[in-house]
Amino acid sequence: MSISVPKIALVGGGQIGGVLAQLCAMRRLGNVVIFDIVDGLPQGKALDIMEASRVDGFDGSITGTTDYKDLAGSDVVIVTSGVPRKPGMSRDDLLTINAKIIKSVGENLKVHAPNAVVIVISNPLDAMVTLMQKATGFPANRVIGQAGVLDSSRFASFIAWELGVSVKDINAPVLGGHGDTMVPLVRYANVGGLPVMELLERKYKSADKAKEVMEKIVQRTRDAGGEVVNLLKTGSAFYSPASAAVQMTEAILRDEKRVLPVCAKLNGEFGVNGYYVGVLATLGKDGSGVVQEIALNAEEQAMFDKSVNAVKTLVEDMGRLGL
Ligand code: LAC
Repeated sequence: MSISVPKIALVGGGQIGGVLAQLCAMRRLGNVVIFDIVDGLPQGKALDIMEASRVDGFDGSITGTTDYKDLAGSDVVIVTSGVPRKPGMSRDDLLTINAKIIKSVGENLKVHAPNAVVIVISNPLDAMVTLMQKATGFPANRVIGQAGVLDSSRFASFIAWELGVSVKDINAPVLGGHGDTMVPLVRYANVGGLPVMELLERKYKSADKAKEVMEKIVQRTRDAGGEVVNLLKTGSAFYSPASAAVQMTEAILRDEKRVLPVCAKLNGEFGVNGYYVGVLATLGKDGSGVVQEIALNAEEQAMFDKSVNAVKTLVEDMGRLGL
């Protein structure tokens, strides 16, 4: 009998990396290796989490390394390398510094984890996923980005808090780039299948008031990463991005074929060709599968196009940097 335990590599042992390792262990997703260039950091975090294994009841291994060779045989690699933003910065301001780091990570993954599905979390997300695919040379389905699961979770949370209902019954997709122009799809947001606008109108007995409340929720969703940055002051969100990436990892390792908002490369869908952007796609063992082409009305399509254009500008900027 041969049983193989999945191997999950976390490239970047910072705030998100640490939470990722703990969540992967507690959900028993497989063995985890944390990589970082700062010697001691990944080993220390791995040891710290492992020492809770008796308490949390997990048997898998968590190790830390500064050597890419230890990533050999990884099934999923989650990349958080780079720097987070500080108050006053947009994700796009990180382009130059993080692009160089992501290029180097990608070149190493190509050699040391050639069969993995790669999930990128580093910002600016859509541009970093684009660069990761180029640097690894992996097929597009095996290089994806985490942003939409988090943005949609934020959107759903704000709706739940407003309506006083369980967030578990809310589906509220956010598409487009993971930036200030992201597209929360109000028309498709629902609570147990009921359109969210209907519930808001019922609550306020006014269509205008419902619209006003929803506009605030949409804006808060777009600004949600920045809201956390402004509170933390020293970096960006890390619990929620880690949770989101772990949900994606689980879908891949268990070949669940979940339909989740992910940053995937488009091949004509929504009129976009050759760019990575947030869409609803199937997630399973090969990474991203079918992209669900949601029918957008003119207003939604215009917002989507604007968001895609912001991603295109960043990709062009990377081109000018020779990346
Ligand atoms: C955020 C960062 C992690 O949205 O992109 O919080």
